[in-house]
Amino acid sequence: MRQITLAHPADYEGWRTAARALAAAQIPPAEVAFTVAGTADLFAARDTPAPAPTRALTVPKAFLDLAQTIVCHRDPERFALLYAALTRLQHTRALLDDAADPLVHRLNTLAKAVRRDIHKMRAFVRFRELPEADGSRFVAWFEPDHHIVRANTPFFARRFTAMRWSILTPELCAHWDGENASFTPGAVRADAPDGDPLEATWATYYASTFNPARLKVNAMTKEMPRKYWKNMPETALVPALIAGAQARMTAMIDASAPSPSALRAPPPRGEDRSSPLGGGGGEDGGGGVAAPTTLAHLRTQAATCTRCPLYVPATQTVFGEGPADARLVFVGEQPGDQEDLAGHPFVGPAGQVFDRALAQAGIDRSRTYITNAVKHFKFEPRGKRRIHAKPGTSEIDACRWWLDQERAVLKPLITVALGATAARSLTGRTVTISRERGRPFALADGSEAWITVHPSFLLRIEDKAAADEEFARFVADLAAIRDRVGELAAQ
Ligand code: URA
Repeated sequence: MRQITLAHPADYEGWRTAARALAAAQIPPAEVAFTVAGTADLFAARDTPAPAPTRALTVPKAFLDLAQTIVCHRDPERFALLYAALTRLQHTRALLDDAADPLVHRLNTLAKAVRRDIHKMRAFVRFRELPEADGSRFVAWFEPDHHIVRANTPFFARRFTAMRWSILTPELCAHWDGENASFTPGAVRADAPDGDPLEATWATYYASTFNPARLKVNAMTKEMPRKYWKNMPETALVPALIAGAQARMTAMIDASAPSPSALRAPPPRGEDRSSPLGGGGGEDGGGGVAAPTTLAHLRTQAATCTRCPLYVPATQTVFGEGPADARLVFVGEQPGDQEDLAGHPFVGPAGQVFDRALAQAGIDRSRTYITNAVKHFKFEPRGKRRIHAKPGTSEIDACRWWLDQERAVLKPLITVALGATAARSLTGRTVTISRERGRPFALADGSEAWITVHPSFLLRIEDKAAADEEFARFVADLAAIRDRVGELAAQ
């Protein structure tokens, strides 16, 4: 028996070098045992160097890709299975095409589990800011099912290049200092920081917006297994909330029993968080959002936001910009291609139309705060191009928290929704712009909101006369908003 000891549990290079030499020397799989350094049985055979290759070996690239994934699996047989497949590939080139072959089926199952774990890590890692003497480090705790930390590190290094971060796991910790990745032995949960004050605010917010009537535990568990819940600010509270859901449901039903005054009132608006000049009072109205820190702190925190999957392909978080004393806040939909690359809102074609309209309405952009309902660019790749894709309600809802935090710091006199996505984010409901533009709304916090079209709508109008007419209407909306800010400021 030949024993091959690999340097670490996902040592693809070590396995590849040894397996190539063994297969080239036609050593049968039954005569090879793979172990990982530090886990070898003390009574097992001594390490045997792989023999010198006796012939050239060719291996399909698809197999090497598969092997690179499978070495990350926790299955102790993974290296042996891969070696068995490698030897069979020498006489059956199309082996991997035979999905019904028991070995191929097993390899595919292992690879699928690893890919899923890699995906889960990208989706469920939550960074917490840890102040250090020379700046901040962002630290996350994660418990993967497989040995995926090394394989996933390049992704996080690419995605959060400009920050210093650590991902702690029980088996291995990955660190990024802005230039290089390094690894240290595993850690325990207590080594990772707990939530900061901002996160406590998130917990309050989440608890107050949690709707027991919409609770679908099975669907939630399928998407986000329970083991991840405790590490994420948005789900750490879920077990307790589920436990209390039945009681809250009963209370909600009791509270919604028609009362004499309710029978005279307009029909309920479902999830509405606002009503035309009506005083708001939506789902989060009671819970309230505790005053957070500063815009700079929010911006830093948002840079590592992983609360929805849009952060994965996007270049960076595009946070709002403008002075902290801005009285007027504009909310767009989401950054576009150019904003995603530049890291600033409304700098692309829609931004240019917006700038022109602001100037014509007599609004100084530099005195306003400009942000988006969704802070990451959502797109579909088409060749080399990235085509804008509309954010879904789950993405809008996940990102709404940042917008609420920005507004809680700014306390603007007026918030303007540019288009339907921003209107949904601000009001919590689907809005028909043509019906609701040009008049104020009261938001849940008592401040005033206006709704108008999105500048990109103007870019899509092909007929020149119609485009000019719509542009003039947009400018008129902005001018009315400018006047109203003046009125409110004078009160
Ligand atoms: N469209 C938006 O909604 N926001 C931007 O920042 C750019 C284009």
